[in-house]
Amino acid sequence: MAKAIINTARNQGKISKYIYGQFAEHLGRCIYEGLYVDENSDIPNKNGMRCDVVNALKELEIPVLRWPGGCFADDYHWRDGIGEKSQRPYMVNTNWGGVVENNHFGTHEFFELCEQLGTEPYICGNVGSGTVQEMRDWVEYMTFDGDSPLANERRKNGREKPWKLKFFGVGNENWGCGGNMRPEYYADLYKRYATFIRNYGDEPIYKIAGGPNVDDTRWMETLMQNIRHITEGISLHNYTFESAWENKGSATEFDNDGWYKLMANAMKMDKVINVHTAIMDRYDPEKKIDLIVDEWGNWFDVEIGTNPGFLYQQNTMRDVISGMLILHVFHKHNDRVKMANIAQMVNVLQAMILTDGEKMVLTPTYHLFRMMKGHMDGERVDVDYDCEEQEINGLKFPKISISASKKNGEMTVSICNTSLNSDEDMELDLRDGEFSVADGEILVSEHMNDCNTFDAPNTVEPKKFDVSLENGKLSFKLPKMSACVITLK
Ligand code: AHR
Repeated sequence: MAKAIINTARNQGKISKYIYGQFAEHLGRCIYEGLYVDENSDIPNKNGMRCDVVNALKELEIPVLRWPGGCFADDYHWRDGIGEKSQRPYMVNTNWGGVVENNHFGTHEFFELCEQLGTEPYICGNVGSGTVQEMRDWVEYMTFDGDSPLANERRKNGREKPWKLKFFGVGNENWGCGGNMRPEYYADLYKRYATFIRNYGDEPIYKIAGGPNVDDTRWMETLMQNIRHITEGISLHNYTFESAWENKGSATEFDNDGWYKLMANAMKMDKVINVHTAIMDRYDPEKKIDLIVDEWGNWFDVEIGTNPGFLYQQNTMRDVISGMLILHVFHKHNDRVKMANIAQMVNVLQAMILTDGEKMVLTPTYHLFRMMKGHMDGERVDVDYDCEEQEINGLKFPKISISASKKNGEMTVSICNTSLNSDEDMELDLRDGEFSVADGEILVSEHMNDCNTFDAPNTVEPKKFDVSLENGKLSFKLPKMSACVITLK
């Protein structure tokens, strides 16, 4: 029997709700078809937003949504996406498949989507191919309540009151698709662009600098040296592949080795955060600057027969377990990691939802995010567990991963078993807490590569999970390749 102690009175700081954030880019069928259809579409919609998709996403209580990219952000000119739709100019989406972008989904539509979802907006501005003036004007257009040509133009376009906008990114991947810059050059540009992002609303804009790719410590060091006094957050992008970027692997056709490699690679997130937080701690020991992991998730080869530029992939039990491992890493680093945005919300990479015409399917990752909601803004508590580790290609990952938090008198415990062949008898000793009810939900399936398809949409879905709670001890058998969330009252 594996025994863990949950020290319910040993507080470890708040788990920011924003780490359960999402990302929606003008890429493939994420925005168009996935979230937004023409107002005249046969697919039921409210002001163009798909009702089925929005209703399902509302269940996740998404705290923040990043838009319009990604690489697309540094090629996007916001003026093309306002005003009468039939008059909006077309452009070619050069990053993603060379398809025509008609700009029918622009600023007003993005805020409408956020309002329908009940989520906070996070907009990424264009540094790579946009001007300082373009960026400053966009912020004024969106957030100024007074009398100015830009605010009045917004009114003319149908929005009287300014929107509430807290999070603003100053460029995306400026070491790559956002301009192939040196960190020194980006740091200088950042200062210039950020200076002109004015605060018009009640709350100052929280600026996020385009941070490093994976473990690029030179990029982080340069930003911390140069811009720490004028940024609130620095982003980090770290995707997980089965083997490597050059060899991403299939989302569904993998063997046991492919399962374990992904678990091990998921835990790279911990290493990557450690190297960057070590640098941040040197310059900012008071932890005033946040690390914002605004792109993460599993990236596999596209589904055979789909446009390679659309990054459409399926989603299995393997994504659930690796997803929980990574969310637990974010919990562990809750003193520095204050936001994370899984890529991406619909039809792209590790998506919550897949669509095909009017059909929609919820992925296993959707169910994981719904089950984990109890952790949002919860106080993390100490878990004492001497976990057995496995090793593959020199990378370690736990057999069992546990995280616990409390909020409003309730405790949320999430736990997963990465093993493909052995169940685990668990006993969780709940120290210093008095709980009388325990409800469990589990995601488990017969095969490691089970997924939800349009023909069989409910293959992987949460089931009730019975646990025993006696004398302050929770016991249960955790099946192999399963993820479970227990709520204690
Ligand atoms: O999420 C897909 C792409 O991955 C984003 O556009 C880019 O920022 C990253 O390289």
